Amino acid sequence: MVKRSKIFAMGGAKRRNRTPVKKQQLRLGRKLRLKKASSKKSKTDNQKSRYQDMILVLDFGSQYTQLIARRIRENKVYSKIVPYNISAAEITELNPKGLILSGGPLSVYDKGAPLPNKDIFKLKKPILGICYGLQVITHMFGGQVKKTSKREFGRAEMFADSHKDLFANLPSNFTCWMSHGDEVKKLPTGFAQIGHTLNSPIAAIANRAKGVYGVQFHPEVIHTQRGNQILANFAFQICRCLPRWNLDKFVRETVKEIVENVDNKKVVLGLSGGVDSSVAAVLLQQAIGKRLYCIFVDNGLLRKNEAKKVEDTFKNQLKMNLNCVNAQKRFLQRLNNVVDPEQKRKIIGDEFIKVFQEAAKRIKGVEFLGQGTLYPDVIESMSPLGGPSSVIKTHHNVGGLPKTMRLKLVEPLRELFKDEVRNIGKNLGLPEDLIKRQPFPGPGLAVRIIGEVTEGRLEILRNADEIVESEIKKSALYDEIWQAFAVLLPIKTVGVMGDKRTYENVIALRCVSSLDGMTADWVKLPHEILGQISNRIINEVEGVNRVVYDISSKPPATIEWE
Ligand code: XMP
Repeated sequence: MVKRSKIFAMGGAKRRNRTPVKKQQLRLGRKLRLKKASSKKSKTDNQKSRYQDMILVLDFGSQYTQLIARRIRENKVYSKIVPYNISAAEITELNPKGLILSGGPLSVYDKGAPLPNKDIFKLKKPILGICYGLQVITHMFGGQVKKTSKREFGRAEMFADSHKDLFANLPSNFTCWMSHGDEVKKLPTGFAQIGHTLNSPIAAIANRAKGVYGVQFHPEVIHTQRGNQILANFAFQICRCLPRWNLDKFVRETVKEIVENVDNKKVVLGLSGGVDSSVAAVLLQQAIGKRLYCIFVDNGLLRKNEAKKVEDTFKNQLKMNLNCVNAQKRFLQRLNNVVDPEQKRKIIGDEFIKVFQEAAKRIKGVEFLGQGTLYPDVIESMSPLGGPSSVIKTHHNVGGLPKTMRLKLVEPLRELFKDEVRNIGKNLGLPEDLIKRQPFPGPGLAVRIIGEVTEGRLEILRNADEIVESEIKKSALYDEIWQAFAVLLPIKTVGVMGDKRTYENVIALRCVSSLDGMTADWVKLPHEILGQISNRIINEVEGVNRVVYDISSKPPATIEWE
């Protein structure tokens, strides 16, 4: 009988000014080790202790909600995102040490504005409201929120009017990041003002007796100086959490859980060569060894030598059961004469499922399907406000497998953020190259060839793409850039090479910075690097005589061109 658990189902930014937070963690860590040494825990206790110190983030639809949870976890405290309308009983069941009410796009007085269940305030758990969260607290405790005549977006100077608990170890004034059109006009009874800016007299509030706090600015964003200190103060001083969340422990417990649940059955997993499926594969391999069967579908739309690299890493180095299916012809045939981006995506997704299913059927007695689903996907799919990325492109169905496979899902990474997954991969010995790999879309180069996808055009793009990647790596900018790649345009332009007229293809360079792919800005690459990439592509890639640079941000453009 398979036990129910979180990972089984049917069907960052740099830390600034580390000292005080680090000290707090060390102190608390020492306390924790002493406590551990004196108590022998049962298996059930251990299971519980995985999230003994947890902070829940109630999601009111802010673009920064996930960032809050990530920042809390960076302080070694587990943090989970839940819908804003979670009931008090559900919170009691989860037993967090504190709650954070996130920001949100609406005004508390708007029709249909999300408000939490009022019973959550009776739970006597410490609460921190951020931006809209502060306004929710003010509104629900009887204060007054009003539209401000001086909206604040971006940097503001924050003056701390108190120097304890939430604002302990902070200077008297610091730069913070604001994004609001409403402000607190009247404090609710029992609350004190603990901070202000020049435009917002009440920019931070506290009701210490009730353990309820609120800040108008965003401590979770990197532009707020010492923002991490404020979140650490909330977690350690106010919620009394201990820094127990660590990835090694998570891996040990997850492996144990997989061993118990999968038992002696087989798991099949679609390996893409990307970070998520690779880390899921090594974790599963640790738990069940050769009962993990990986399938890698070579759809012919991959980067240069990609299939060979995957085979080499997983089959030869990591000794995994890996079936590399060469399906290049099948994909190309189906893409013949297709120019519509959505149609391309659908065909590729559909063909992937067919190829994968055929390969999986050949493995006898498989009961589980392993997947590298990450926490942001989980949150987005359960958000009552709709995830931040409404369907603009048919993305994540590529590689999504149909329920008809009747396999039980095992998703060992479904509670983790990408940076946590990268760290686990590193600790489990995956090559650095793979861990730091920039995202690559499921439909591959097909969505970077505008117009029809042919073997000849793929060859041009692969060669150009290889040059972009190697030059960006050489420039040492690779790790700072979200994605840098080449796009092949469906037009030809006139050029001159060795006194001869040419009429050849155009390559567009796309290079963006981003935190999560939701929004992005084009990177101001140094001219020398742009020049070097352009020279090399025009000289070395046959069929290209012009290179242009894409200077659009997302929104309104998207990162990929299709
Ligand atoms: P867009 O083009 O929507 O891309 O701005 C945002 C991020 O998602 C990646 N992307 C995909 N990833 N399957 C994926 O797994 C897809 O179909 C897909 N399409 C886009 C894109 O590379 C960028 O990082």
